[in-house]
Amino acid sequence: MNNMDFAGQTIIITGAGSGIGRATALLLARRGAHVFIADISDNADQVAEEITTAGGQATAVIGDISDRAVVDALVAQAADTGGRLGLVNNAGIMDRFAGAADTDDETWERCLRINLTAPFLLTRAVLPHMRQAGGGAIVNVGSAASLRGAAAGAAYTASKHGVAGLTKNTAYTYGRENIRCNLIAPGGVETNIMATSATETQIDPAHGLAALTPIHQSALRQASAEELAGPIVFLLSDAASDVNGVILPVDGGWAAG
Ligand SMILES: NC(=O)c1ccc[n+]([C@@H]2O[C@H](COP(=O)([O-])OP(=O)(O)OC[C@H]3O[C@@H](n4cnc5c(N)ncnc54)[C@H](O)[C@@H]3O)[C@@H](O)[C@H]2O)c1
Repeated sequence: MNNMDFAGQTIIITGAGSGIGRATALLLARRGAHVFIADISDNADQVAEEITTAGGQATAVIGDISDRAVVDALVAQAADTGGRLGLVNNAGIMDRFAGAADTDDETWERCLRINLTAPFLLTRAVLPHMRQAGGGAIVNVGSAASLRGAAAGAAYTASKHGVAGLTKNTAYTYGRENIRCNLIAPGGVETNIMATSATETQIDPAHGLAALTPIHQSALRQASAEELAGPIVFLLSDAASDVNGVILPVDGGWAAG
């Protein structure tokens, strides 16, 4: 049996219009999954087209995954395929690298809503389907900021620690029902995240740029999005059938320092 085979499975990947999510969707589609490319950007259409042109199965769903109505419709549509459901909670935004004193309400709310509430909404929505199917797997994309305090600002760090907690609780609560939930904690990855959510002009110059320098010095190197896709697909696959509740750094060794 090839336990890295995803034929007959339908995998929802949030934020799959770009970066880590896109690379994960391409890899899962090559391994036989029907992938649901969920993104707020219409890049989702291009990724879905890339996959279908190559002979894979993909459906683009454009919407804000922090909106419960969008999440419920997305999960219902994915469940309608009849495939075994899997979920990659990947969509995320950066903050402005500011500590609590300099974090405005909007940055805090947006970070928590997209990086933590959305994974909760999606997890809650897929669980009944996974229970009914007798199991399933969820992979959450955290960050080095799920483990340490010096990798981003207060809002992003709190949201990424939060999603680590959601991961462990989901793993522990539903493990006996053959539902697994794990988290990967990337270091620096070459994607569009800085361009889309924290451009140089948005970062608070007093706190942001000063904080960025040690972060980039301490990260060992920038990974490619493809280097994250492999570990995500492994955790999602039956090859990881007894791996549950793990926080896996994928950072070239940064967390070991
Ligand atoms: N790039 C890094 O260095 C790095 C490091 C650690 C963790 N991460 C995490 O990896 C994940 C993926 O980020 P990436 O680096 O690939 O960034 P990216 O910006 O290239 O991709 C993120 C995608 O999420 C989408 N998105 C944002 N808000 C959304 C919303 N409300 N609804 C639907 N889609 C939404 C964006 O449109 C984008 O396509 C994030 O959770 C991020 O926090 C990234």
